[in-house]
Amino acid sequence: MNFEVHRVACVDSTNKQLKSLAKRSKLSQGYVLSADYQSAGLARNKEREWISADTGLYTSIYLEQANELLPIYACVAICYGLLDLGISPKIKWPNDVLIGSKKVCGILCEAGLNFEKKPFYICGFGLNINNTEFPAEIAEKATSIFIEGGHRLDKDSVLFAMLNGFKKAFSNDDILEEYKKYCITIGKDVRIVQQDKVVHAIDIGPQGQLIIDDGQLLISGEVSVRGENGYI
Ligand code: BTN
Repeated sequence: MNFEVHRVACVDSTNKQLKSLAKRSKLSQGYVLSADYQSAGLARNKEREWISADTGLYTSIYLEQANELLPIYACVAICYGLLDLGISPKIKWPNDVLIGSKKVCGILCEAGLNFEKKPFYICGFGLNINNTEFPAEIAEKATSIFIEGGHRLDKDSVLFAMLNGFKKAFSNDDILEEYKKYCITIGKDVRIVQQDKVVHAIDIGPQGQLIIDDGQLLISGEVSVRGENGYI
């Protein structure tokens, strides 16, 4: 896949802008919008905003061919990108990328109909790159590449590494096995926040669901999980 990269200083949300562009005009598969700062970043939890300081990078990719495993591919892609930067990543189900036990990247995939009424998919990811601190409400859970790696990085090089990660992930024909290699949720006791119940996660299902010990398949978006000991 080839990427057509558009870098901007500031937008409200790269996902929102890309959805709106796709509804009005022809975009090619692999169109990328990447911003240094977002004034109203979208988070998976609709009640929250994705805090988007100018020390991070906020990127959305437009796709016309994708399936329900897109968030799984995206997690693996970001892991590949981080590995390329010398960092050892982990995944917390469904799609948080962590360094150690703290979140460095959040992923939000959305779908819509383009100006020709054909389906499109947006894969958005927000990466904490040169952040040295975070607002109190996320300080315990968030980290940056700078905090973990000890040196500041040029955002364009980080974007290049991540897009190469996407190319590599999209050409992997057993993406679930690859996801499982990085996923720290498997084998852990997790609390299902919505049900306030502790369960044991045993595997990942064919559509990226979390399989728990009573045989239930948890679907991302319907439930969120928290580790029994802190964030994980
Ligand atoms: C999450 O809640 O964990 C997902 C956050 C996703 C944030 C990214 S930043 C780039 C893209 N544009 C947005 O408005 N949100 C996503």
